[in-house]
Amino acid sequence: MKASACAKLILFGEHSVVYGQPAIAVPLRSIRLKVELKKSSQDKVSLKGVNASDSKRVLSALLIARQQHNMPYHLRLRIDSGIPLKCGMGSSAALSVAVTSALSKSKDPSTVAAAALELERVFHGTPSGIDVAVSAYEKPVFFIRGKKPIFIRIRPMWILVANSGGRTPTRTVVQQVRMKLQKNPALWQAIRNMGAIAATARAALAKGDIKKLGRLMNLNQTYLRWLGVSSPKLEGLIRSALDSGALGAKLSGAGRGGCIVAVYATKAEAQSAARKIKGAFAVRIS
Ligand code: PMV
Repeated sequence: MKASACAKLILFGEHSVVYGQPAIAVPLRSIRLKVELKKSSQDKVSLKGVNASDSKRVLSALLIARQQHNMPYHLRLRIDSGIPLKCGMGSSAALSVAVTSALSKSKDPSTVAAAALELERVFHGTPSGIDVAVSAYEKPVFFIRGKKPIFIRIRPMWILVANSGGRTPTRTVVQQVRMKLQKNPALWQAIRNMGAIAATARAALAKGDIKKLGRLMNLNQTYLRWLGVSSPKLEGLIRSALDSGALGAKLSGAGRGGCIVAVYATKAEAQSAARKIKGAFAVRIS
């Protein structure tokens, strides 16, 4: 049993999506995680380049998947991830989707996404579901927690992604944001504003209004800073992207490490910036 699933990037609305605000994420279809499952004498996981603490969670996810699909026998799961791990590109969601796709008879993305969300909980605690939705449907989504994803049109465009390296686990960052909101209720305004930004960005993405998208990204990043989820390394990358001509840049995913995303007016500019910024690449989204 083999399957694969793609990476994702959140363009707008990480964290606020946890509290019912809309968010926008896109699939990176060319960046994939592959799995292979075989009958085995015991449940086993082998992962290329993943450390032992992760493999425990992967094993727990595998057991849940076995239960979901009434698999009476043990399984050996082999993972080959083309998605960099722990950097906000959705490797755990892709793993959850790929394992579910490999085991389930139904290839219907909504069925796959619902089952994969149970596995994703092992990694993220209380995920909003945006990551598994994008990975299962491989379409850009306007996502509101608990609702069916709305598929949106995006004028194809080039963005830059850069990885700041080591990251705090998503569930820890999400918990820290929750505590911060409890201590400082005025911050709820930032959550609402991020939702409004995502709603405005939806129209700008459809039109391909890159200038507006850039402004919205910068604004979204301001609120993410207020929530305390940026980091000096992320800020350094955002600075480099803006200095290289990006029209806007922000962190993507849970933050406190992980990736940034930046928009450029042209493919050539995005590619030229990617050559200059360490750990960066340019990718077309559609
Ligand atoms: O850590 P990532 O890149 O999978 O992104 C998590 C996004 C959050 O909004 C912070 C959490 C969630 O469950 O949506």
